[in-house]
Parts: sequence; structure tokens; C-alpha cells
Amino acid sequence: MSMIEICDSSQIIEGEITKITVDGIPPIAVSRYEGGIFVFPDTCPHADESLSEGWVEDGRIICGVHFAEFEFETGEVHNRPIGCPNLTFFKCEDRNGKVFAILNEEKTDV
Ligand code: FES
Repeated sequence: MSMIEICDSSQIIEGEITKITVDGIPPIAVSRYEGGIFVFPDTCPHADESLSEGWVEDGRIICGVHFAEFEFETGEVHNRPIGCPNLTFFKCEDRNGKVFAILNEEKTDV
């Protein structure tokens, strides 16, 4: 799959999680941490709940439902509810203020 444009980088605010909908695919979420842009599924890997309803704290994305905590950079889960896997980030890049991502490929350079 090629890279697709998902939003303007100005929409991605440090410490916030923003839900993005793109026709034909499940909702995705974007956030900025220490200046880096992160793109990931909006649906929590634990259950069918929206991560954009959660928050960011101490370098982690917190799910507001059962409080799983996912590290930026690695996606490693902490405070893991039973059966909850790590979070997957998608490869993405900022091209002149537009954010592009490959939504079926995990980020591998972490
Ligand atoms: S739905 Fe996110 S931790 Fe359970």
C-alpha cells in the first residue's frame, strides 16, 4: 500500500490524541510526543474502544476504558488488562506540513 495523506501536521498537538477518519479504513489516531508524530489505530488493541477518548501522560497513551498504558516509540503495554497486546504504530512522515502514513505497515525503525 502506498502512503496516503491523513491530515495537516498542524492538527497534531503535543500531548493530545486526535481521531482521524479516512474513507474505507478503520479510524486512526495521531499524536505528537517530544516533537515526533505518531499514527496508530484509534481502536484500543484490548477491546473495541477509542484511544482518542483517552489521554497522554508520562510518555504513554492511556486508554480511558481499562487504563492500559502504551509507550510512545515502542508501543509496549503497561498496566496490561488480560489479553491486551502492544500498540502498533504505522510508518508516517511529514511532507511540507502534510502527514502521510502507510496504514498497513508497522513502524520498523524503533
Ligand atoms: S479497551 Fe482499552 S484498555 Fe480495555
